[in-house]
Amino acid sequence: ASLKEYNTFGIDVSARRFISVTNVEDLKEVLAQTYASELFILGGGSNMLLTKDIEKTVLHIDLKGKELTSENKDEVLVKASAGENWHEFVLYTLEKGLGGLENLSLIPGKVGTAPIQNIGAYGVELKDVFEECEAIHIQTLEQKTFSKEACKFDYRNSVFKNKFKGQYIITSVTFRLTKNHHVLHTDYGAIKNALDQKGIKDAGVKEISDAVISIRQSKLPDPRILGNSGSFFKNPVISVELFEELQRAYPEMPSYPVSRQEVKIPAGWLIEKAGLKGYRKGDAGVHKNQALVLVNYGTATGMEILRLSQKVQEKVEEKFQIKLEPEVNIL
Ligand code: EPU
Repeated sequence: ASLKEYNTFGIDVSARRFISVTNVEDLKEVLAQTYASELFILGGGSNMLLTKDIEKTVLHIDLKGKELTSENKDEVLVKASAGENWHEFVLYTLEKGLGGLENLSLIPGKVGTAPIQNIGAYGVELKDVFEECEAIHIQTLEQKTFSKEACKFDYRNSVFKNKFKGQYIITSVTFRLTKNHHVLHTDYGAIKNALDQKGIKDAGVKEISDAVISIRQSKLPDPRILGNSGSFFKNPVISVELFEELQRAYPEMPSYPVSRQEVKIPAGWLIEKAGLKGYRKGDAGVHKNQALVLVNYGTATGMEILRLSQKVQEKVEEKFQIKLEPEVNIL
């Protein structure tokens, strides 16, 4: 079976066997019958680069369902199954007038993979609205509920990328959303500009979502049209010493303070300054509007994208002494 339709990079590799599960009972049955080492768990396929055929059983987590599970005067808990499309779920909550997910509009992927890398955009991270998630242990079939605390969320990181890497399948996620008195996050420059341009003063969650959608559409390639996995690298955190040294050479370098000793630099800026924005070799390229995104123009192989990413790392390190770390999982 080809996995081309199941990864947003559109890489054409094959799986030895492919099983899709749409409910937890079927999922448990497959887990009970298959050795963990024989399984390759596939969620949204939006944060990975496949570099070779998968000589395993690919288990596609396609669990569906969403519901409001409880509410009080101000807040609602909304639970969604892992296989729900992320953006459709965001729109569902906005249609119900709920606040919390508006800044995370249009992120590719599925609900169940969102906690793994603590997806984030425009000043909000998943952890800000996360209540808990349910997961099944691949080997023991134990079902467990992870609180926010237990997930150990960090910038594009969680316990599911560290201690419990490859051990659990997330089956559902519950979000704590607001009914009224929404806490709005409109400080991000691009959001402010988009709202100002439309003359919107008292933005609501729907207007913020619309602004985020138009910003993303103007900068980020739509994976259905041009294969990609969003940001290929994390934004690097560097020491204040290195930052000050670089700032002397590049006074216009953008940065965000992290702590007294550390500063975060946008990788997209570093890649652009290294002269690679819009660079293309064969069908593998650096996106022309957002250099942090690597794209597949059609028939690039995973290895070609990987080699391109290594070239990007080398050029950036050569020029800035900064080693970029991939954000996507390379398999
Ligand atoms: N920049 C450039 N050249 C570029 C790209 C960016 O100079 O080619 C500069 C911009 O001008 C701006 C700064 O870099 O000053 C930041 O750019 P942007 O606002 O586009 O955000 P980012 O830091 O590049 C991060 C996330 C994105 C998220 C945006 C918005 C990471 C790795 N990426 O990108 O997340 O959408 O902020 O919040 O943190 C993803 O993770 O897949 C993703 C798309």
